[in-house]
Amino acid sequence: MTDLNTLLLHCRSGFEKECAAEITARCAEAGIYGYPQFEPSQAYVLFICYEANGALAAMRTLRFRSLVFARQWCACLSRLDDLPAHDRITPIAGHVAGLPQSSELMVEVADTTEGRELHGFARKFGSALAQSLRRDGLLLPRKQRAEWRLQLFVLDGRTCWLGVARIDNSSPWPMGILRLKFPQQAPSRSTLKLEEAWHYFIPVRRKDEFLSGGMTAVDLGAAPGGWTWQLVKQHMFVIAVDNGPMNADLMESGQVEHRREDAFTFAPPKPVDWMVCDIVDKPARVTELMLQWALNGWCRNAMFNLKLPMKQRFDEVERCLEYLQRELAAAGIGYRLDARQLYHDREEITCWLSLNQAG
Ligand SMILES: C[S@@+](CC[C@H](N)C(=O)[O-])C[C@H]1O[C@@H](n2cnc3c(N)ncnc32)[C@H](O)[C@@H]1O
Repeated sequence: MTDLNTLLLHCRSGFEKECAAEITARCAEAGIYGYPQFEPSQAYVLFICYEANGALAAMRTLRFRSLVFARQWCACLSRLDDLPAHDRITPIAGHVAGLPQSSELMVEVADTTEGRELHGFARKFGSALAQSLRRDGLLLPRKQRAEWRLQLFVLDGRTCWLGVARIDNSSPWPMGILRLKFPQQAPSRSTLKLEEAWHYFIPVRRKDEFLSGGMTAVDLGAAPGGWTWQLVKQHMFVIAVDNGPMNADLMESGQVEHRREDAFTFAPPKPVDWMVCDIVDKPARVTELMLQWALNGWCRNAMFNLKLPMKQRFDEVERCLEYLQRELAAAGIGYRLDARQLYHDREEITCWLSLNQAG
C-alpha cells in the first residue's frame, strides 16, 4: 500500500531551520511524530513521519495557514530516483495510481537559482504528464472537483518528489509564491510586502469590508512611502509617521499628513481603521507597540513586520506571538492574529492583527 509519510515544505532559502523547527513543533502538538531533514539554503524541508501515512494525517489535522515559515506543502511518497530520460511518465504514472484521486497537477521546483533554471523543463514536463494522466483516467477531468491536488516537485531531470496536497489546505500558488508586478509609481520596493499581505490575508469576498475608500490609516515608519502609497491607492487618508522624508509625488495626493515624530510615542488623534508598521527594530519592541495600540483601541486592524534576529528566529517569533495573544486574551479583547513569511519578506515576517473578531 502507498505510504505518504513525508511532508515536503517549501520555504524561503536560508529559513530551513525555522521551517523545520516549526513543523516539528506543530506536528508534535497534534500527536504526529517524526524528524526533519534539510540542507542549508535548499529552500525546502522534509519532515519524515514515523507513522505510515503520517504526512496525510498532518495535512488533515494541521491548518496550513497556521504555519509561518512554510510557503507550500505536500504529503509525499519516498523520493523517485533514476527516472529514465526516455520515459519518465510511465514510472510516475504507476505511483499516481496509488494516490488519492486528484483533478489538477501542480509542478514545482525549489526557489533557488538551480531550481529556477529547471522551471522551463518542469513546466513542459508537467503539461505532458497531466495530459497522459488524464488520458489514462489517473487525473480526473478538470471540471470535476476533487479534495486533493497532485503535486510534483522536480529536483532534476531524473529525480522528483511526488505527492498530494489538500486543495483547501495548501497554497493555491505553485511553491506558495504570489508574483506581483512592481508598480513603477510606488516610492519603494517595500510596497510589494503590503500588497502581498493584503492578497494573502484578506479573502477576496471580504475585501470591501477591510479595504475601502474613506477609511483612515496610520503608517508607522512610513518613509519613503511604499506602504503609504498602497493605502492611498485604496483611497484612504493616511498619517505617515517618520523622521525621514516622504516621497514628494505621494504627498501631492493630498491624502497624506506627514508627522516627523517617534512612532513609539505617537498617539493618533482619533482611532483609525488601519495601522501599518514596517519599522526596523527589535521584534519584542514592535510587538509591545502593537499591543499598546490594541489595548488603547487605536486601530481596528494592524499589519506589521517583525524583523527577525540572526539567531533563534523561530523561538523569537513564538515568544512574540504568544505574548501578544496572552496579553490580548487577558485584556478580554477579541482578535484574530495571522502571521507569515511572505514571498516579498526577507529577514522578517508579516503579521495581521484584526481586533474585535472571534480568535
Ligand atoms: C523599512 S523603512 C520603511 C519603508 C516603508 N514601509 C516603505 O514602504 O517605503 C523603516 C522606516 O522606519 C523609520 N523608523 C525607524 N524607527 C522609527 C521610529 N522610532 N519612529 C518613526 N520612524 C522610525 C525609518 O526612518 C525608516 O524610514
